[in-house]
This record gives sequence, C-alpha cells and structure tokens, in this order.
Amino acid sequence: MKTLSLSRRRFLQASGAAAVWVPTAVVGYTAQEMRGFYSNGQMTVNVSKWELDTPALCVDLDLLEANLDKMAQTMAQNGIASRPHGKTHKCPTIARMQMERGSVGICTAKVSEAEVMFDNGIDRILNTTGNVTATKINRAMNLRQRCPGFIQATDAAANARLLSAAAVSKGIVADVVVDVDPGIQRTGTAFGQPALELAQLVDQLPGLNFIGMLCYDAGSQHVAGFDLRKAQTLERMSAATDTFDLMQRAGLNTEIFSGGGTGTYNIDHWVRGLTDVQVGSYIFMDAQYLAIGGATDTVSYSDFHASLTIMTTVLNDQHEGRATSDAGAKACTINQPWPIIKGESGMSYRSTSDEFGTILYEDSPSRQYKVGDKLELIVSHCDPVVNLYDQLYVIKDDTVVAIWPISARGMSA
Ligand SMILES: Cc1ncc(COP(=O)(O)O)c(C=O)c1O
Repeated sequence: MKTLSLSRRRFLQASGAAAVWVPTAVVGYTAQEMRGFYSNGQMTVNVSKWELDTPALCVDLDLLEANLDKMAQTMAQNGIASRPHGKTHKCPTIARMQMERGSVGICTAKVSEAEVMFDNGIDRILNTTGNVTATKINRAMNLRQRCPGFIQATDAAANARLLSAAAVSKGIVADVVVDVDPGIQRTGTAFGQPALELAQLVDQLPGLNFIGMLCYDAGSQHVAGFDLRKAQTLERMSAATDTFDLMQRAGLNTEIFSGGGTGTYNIDHWVRGLTDVQVGSYIFMDAQYLAIGGATDTVSYSDFHASLTIMTTVLNDQHEGRATSDAGAKACTINQPWPIIKGESGMSYRSTSDEFGTILYEDSPSRQYKVGDKLELIVSHCDPVVNLYDQLYVIKDDTVVAIWPISARGMSA
C-alpha cells in the first residue's frame, strides 16, 4: 500500500513522536479520488481520515464491530433474536455483518430501501411501514414475487384487502404482520380486539398469510434513566403481550412478535412473547442516545460506542469566542442535542446554518482552531445524518480501510 502524502500529523507519528494532532493544511482527498484508491475491496493507498475532503462521514470499524458483537451476545444471552433496522445504515454491507452475527432478518422503513437490500443479497426483510397507495402496494408485491422472505405490515382492514387483491392478481400469497400501536398514535391498530380482528382478517384473505405482529414503542427508546425507561416499556408492552396472547389463543400463526430498539435492547426480553428486537442506532450511536444513560452508567449511554463521525474543516477563525466550519445543517441536520466535538472539551457545536457549523468556545477550551484545521463530530441523530451521504469511509486506527456505499441513501419513497 502506498502513502501518497505525509501530513504533519502522520510525519510525527511515523517519526515515533506522540500521536498528537498538529494543525496543518491537509490535502483533502475528494470522494471521487478516494473511490479511485479503492479497488477489489482494498485501499491501494494510505489515507488518514484527517486528509479527507470534508464534510465526510466516517465509521470506526473496531467500534462498529464491538457494537455488532455486543448486540449479538446480549441477544444470545437473553434468548431473543435481533432483526436490526436497516433505516439506520441504509448500507447492505452492514446489513450483511448483522446477518452474519445471527440476526433473523433486516427491517426496512420503505419499500425502496427493501429493494436495495434485496438487490444486494439480503433476502429476509420485514418492511415495518405499511404501504397504502396502489403504486407502493404494487411495488411491494413485485418485490415479494422476487423475494419470498419479504414480510409486509398492515394496520387496517381496508389496507389488508388491497394487499390481498394485489397479491392474488400476481398469483402470490404474501406474508403479513399486523402493526399494533403501543400508544404513541403514529401507526398501528389498537391493542386487543381490534388487533385480533385484523389478524383474523389477514389470516382469512386469499392473498395473505398472517405471520405475527409488530409493536415498536418509539416513545420509550429515549426515556432518560434506565429504571424509568424499563418501567414505561414494560407497562406499555404488557398490552402488546396480551394482544399477542389473544392471537395465540385464537390459533393464529404467531411466529413473529417484533419490537424494541436500541434504548430498550436490554429490557425487551422481559416483554413476554417478544421474538425479536428491531434495533437500529446501536451500530453507530449518536448524541441523542448518549444522553439517555444506561443501566450501569447513569450519565452516558455507554453500552455502545459512538462509531459514526463527521469530519469537518475550519473555514474562519477571525471572530471572538467562535470558529466556523464547513459542516452545517446539510451535513449534520438540525437535530438536537447538537453534534459533539470528539476528544475536545470547553466548546460546543451548532449546525443551524445550511452550509456552516459554529464552534462556540466556553471556559477553558481544550484548543483554539485555526483556518484549515479539521475536527471530528459525533453525530446528533444517526439515521437522518447517514441519509445525507453517498458513502461511508471505514476507519481503522485513523486510516481509511474501505469505502462502503450507502446504497439506500435517499430511498425515502
Ligand atoms: C419501526 C422502527 N423499528 C425500529 C427502529 C430502530 O430504533 P433505534 O434506532 O432506536 O434502535 C425504528 C427507529 O426509528 C423504527 O421506526
């Protein structure tokens, strides 16, 4: 492997000096140049993450793998499965890593995401969002024709009838789960009798095969404090378990009872009947999740590592108490809590301007940035940030070791 340039930082490392960051103007390899250095799954030259053109989205491979392993081990210990949500990474390479670790399938939020996953070798897919228009239903059934492991969600009788008619017209019987509302009034039908009746209808319709239920409690994932989160989750999900029991007693196929997420991954096995967790963010983490606290670390949710970062460059250092960088809302979103400047203290970050980020110095900042300096941000909310980038730089020991396409980026339809 060649080393194209030796930045001042890399020179210090190569010469045996302590690995300290020394501000310097760096090359700034573009996305296109970087793709040119990547061939047959290998980087042909050594490029540090500090030498990337910015903004650039990076994932630390060791931290990502530690997160994947921890989830797989926890699920094995707790006796439930994982069906991770692909909406977080939109990246078939990461989906394959999840499947290799024993996940029973991958969830998708949109039929377009599901198509990308299937076209890249993922053949067990649960699309957690219902499709209501003729266009989408047709698209979903076309995918089901190609992918027998594709499962769809429904939350209304009229919709189930449309799904069935579309399946019959294509000569298939499509697997369907009933989406049950955990009380957040987003999607899903009501607990109890309404959910049971819908499940029975799905079971009877000629084009559909009822295969279980889904109940994702988005409202509990970010509850701060483990005990509160646990109490709320178990209280809300007990009605889901009762509903699942009703379906079982009615003799329906209850192969799947899917729910849960990163905030409740170590609580979900106490939800009786739950078969698998739809965890998404655990692979990357973000400022939103770090803030909720865990079972042992009450300050930070340190169960998983923050593996996803944005590299950004300082554009202006002329103003008192602040500096301006090139990663604003279009690179970081305007989700809050704001991105966290990795490895620094006494400063905060804002990404309110479209193209510009603001570094605000507080008391005793750990450093003052100069124009051209780079900094690394832990993202505010991983899912929408990933959707802003075409590719993910995979980093090991600060060096780019792979480039993974975010193939389902922009697949919002
Ligand atoms: C239906 C559904 N399942 C699972 C997830 C994954 O949640 P998390 O990223 O909190 O693990 C989400 C995230 O929004 C979701 O909407």
